[in-house]
Amino acid sequence: MPALVFDEMKRYLGFDDEDARALRALAGPLEPHVTGIVARFYERVVADPGTRAVLSAELAELPALKRTLADWLRGLFAGDYGEAYHRKRAQIGRAHVRAGLPQHYMVAAMELVRLELEAAIGATAVRGKRRKIAALRRLLALELGLMLETYRESYAQTARQGERDAMEARLRETEKLAQIGQLSAALAHEIKNPLAGISGAIQIIRGSLKPGQPHWSVLGEVLQQINRLDRTVKDLLVYARPKPPRLGRCDLSAVIERLLGLLRKEPAGARIHLEHHAVTPVPTIMADANQIEQLLMNLLLNAVQASDENSTVRVSTSADNAHIRLVVTDRGCGMEAEEARRALEPFFTTKARGTGLGLPICQKIVEAHDGQIVIDSTPGTGSEVTVTLPLRPSPRETAERP
Ligand code: HEM
Repeated sequence: MPALVFDEMKRYLGFDDEDARALRALAGPLEPHVTGIVARFYERVVADPGTRAVLSAELAELPALKRTLADWLRGLFAGDYGEAYHRKRAQIGRAHVRAGLPQHYMVAAMELVRLELEAAIGATAVRGKRRKIAALRRLLALELGLMLETYRESYAQTARQGERDAMEARLRETEKLAQIGQLSAALAHEIKNPLAGISGAIQIIRGSLKPGQPHWSVLGEVLQQINRLDRTVKDLLVYARPKPPRLGRCDLSAVIERLLGLLRKEPAGARIHLEHHAVTPVPTIMADANQIEQLLMNLLLNAVQASDENSTVRVSTSADNAHIRLVVTDRGCGMEAEEARRALEPFFTTKARGTGLGLPICQKIVEAHDGQIVIDSTPGTGSEVTVTLPLRPSPRETAERP
């Protein structure tokens, strides 16, 4: 805080040389009281849960803090309240921000200090006590003003720094993801065509063999692995170079029924119950049917993979005048809070075979349709993914189907 403000406070309070002399005269008589005042001050600090919490990591520092407060008390009666005094006392607010002391405790603690010092003055034999107490009150008001002002400044500075740090961290993360995205897209593109060539060649070789011949099943396994690679590469391309949605009429219920039908025929889907529950009738929406199908398929596959045998995966749908809501619920293993928070981050996966792109792709699709996706998960209880889509996405976000 600039010295100017300190001088302003002095002027406003009428703190003058006579006050300085009156306080200077208290130094000797109050000295025997300093240790007791400090001891009682910190007894109160330790006894009160609010201030004790601030000290919890610093209890070992208590003797040093007591010495600091004793010095501070002596400083009140040193008689010199100029530039050096201001500079020294201006550190206290910052120290309290560092310590995490809530601001109001300074006001309360200053009141206790005032009562203690006034009682101590009362117990001395000094003359002109009322005049001296008046000078002390002015100085303590100055001290409190300075403490609060420097606290405010330091607090704002810390908060600004915190915001800057968080912003920079976000920016670095975004840049990193953008780079990874570009790199992945380029790599995926390079892999896609040779992979198709290899797959074609293997199919030809396998076609020339008879089922049961020694290499027939080996080549079948190779083809399966190629398929997996192909899916990963396609995911990468979809994520890194998303296409704007091509809007058309999309019957969500029909898409859901079709996907559930497909999944029931798959071994993973056949071992659990797959349900569609229409809470309210759902009108057709304007959306890219392929992308919505991909969105739903990703959500359903996640739910199915998280589920134990015989448990239920449910898709609930409802609508109001402007939106449809689609909730995919499973009773599977669920996710820890940190996992759920990061689930929409690209390349974050806890699955041994996942690409970490399923949910991020879902998010991109939902956002491109002007919608929202929210994940709610409890470990051991299951997960619920809620997608809200407008009946009609806003036109600027999308490319209308010609
Ligand atoms: C009138 C009230 C108070 C006064 C005059 C006062 C005075 C001081 C002074 C002079 C310092 C050293 C500043 C420096 O590093 O230059 C300090 C630091 C500290 N004070 Fe206070 N204090 C007050 C209230 C409190 C209260 C109620 C607590 C409660 C826990 C507290 C906790 C601390 C802590 C933990 C530090 C060390 C901070 C650090 O160095 O990181 N203070 N205080």
